[in-house]
Amino acid sequence: MFHAVTEKGPAPRAQLTAALGDEGRARAQAFLETLPGYLPTPLVALPALARASGIGALQVKDEGKRFGLKSFKALGGAYAVISLVLEEAGRRLGRALSPADIASQDVRAIAATMTVACATDGNHGRSVAWGAELAGAACEIFIHAGVSEGRAAAMAAFGAHINRIQGTYDDSVALAAEMAAARGWTVVSDTSWEGYEAIPLTVMQGYTAMIGEALDASAEPPTHLFLQAGVGGMAAAVASYATQRLGAAAPKVVVVEPERAACLYATAEAGQLVTVPHGEPTIMAMLECATPSPISWEVLRHLADGYVTLEEQEAVKAMKKLAQPVGGDPAIVAGESGATGLAGMFACLADPSARAHLGLDAQSRVLVFNSEGATDPKIYADIVGRSPEQVAA
Ligand SMILES: Cc1ncc(COP(=O)(O)O)c(C=O)c1O
Repeated sequence: MFHAVTEKGPAPRAQLTAALGDEGRARAQAFLETLPGYLPTPLVALPALARASGIGALQVKDEGKRFGLKSFKALGGAYAVISLVLEEAGRRLGRALSPADIASQDVRAIAATMTVACATDGNHGRSVAWGAELAGAACEIFIHAGVSEGRAAAMAAFGAHINRIQGTYDDSVALAAEMAAARGWTVVSDTSWEGYEAIPLTVMQGYTAMIGEALDASAEPPTHLFLQAGVGGMAAAVASYATQRLGAAAPKVVVVEPERAACLYATAEAGQLVTVPHGEPTIMAMLECATPSPISWEVLRHLADGYVTLEEQEAVKAMKKLAQPVGGDPAIVAGESGATGLAGMFACLADPSARAHLGLDAQSRVLVFNSEGATDPKIYADIVGRSPEQVAA
């Protein structure tokens, strides 16, 4: 289903725009460059698939190659944790600190007194756990019943303590906040709520690095972005940065969600924040969110041109297209939520009214983000029929 935006909402508050512009990206980039093994992720051109789809060009920013974490989420949670530790240490030590100070003895001693907590479907928690390990802070992760054992193990491997709860993702968000308030932990959430915006905004600022890298590497800027959304943090950060940097040449922005968890779609239709009921689980597990992040909505209502929802099989088809390319295009290992942006492009191409609304044609240059690789290799192999290693070989 496609929802065409005919009238955009008001501009977001200036502090949101500022955090997600060039200066914000520069801060996130400075942090990234202190990390061992930092390299921009590949920007992969798929000319044969672009031709077959009737568009001018298609590029995939492959976040499956983001450090060992295999998702763009590595950019957000870890950055927020390290920013928090540096802020706290700066306050206690009475001097300004830079990202490189995270390794110093006095900062590590302060980090050791701190605990960060979050609720997660998997990827955000992995990033928070990694950031806590890098800084030397303790980490409490809250996961709901649907999070796979593989994903839980990946977070525990960074030394995080895993709390598995009965209930939904939203229940895990509520419990993490409650426990943190009781125990003096700091919640590092990728979603915002009333009175809690600064940390999720820092998480989103981390994501600007990936669109920044993509635009740095593009000879010509994209005309269309198809951005998958859970709570909308990724879509809002990418859309805001791209729009600010490209000005008059800003791309059309389409938000892509699973039909089973389309909270931004419902919100856009209603013109105000909507919580959708929990239905059947979706294989696009990282996008299974019932309520948008209010700060993401504040950005997207001003920037998004359309919202599209996907059936389960559309995500599977896009994963397979990337795994088994035609016409000499390279293969890309895209996880269940990673291929969703591309699936959103296919859905819009197949819908004449969406094509017309978006001006999607043979001149269009589309950029999508493979937001995760095979973050659970077993699930990936079950869906695609080959292991991530076989696809990558
Ligand atoms: C792989 C992947 N893609 C996309 C998203 C959506 O990000 P957001 O919740 O910021 O919309 C997530 C969120 O966890 C994710 O893990």
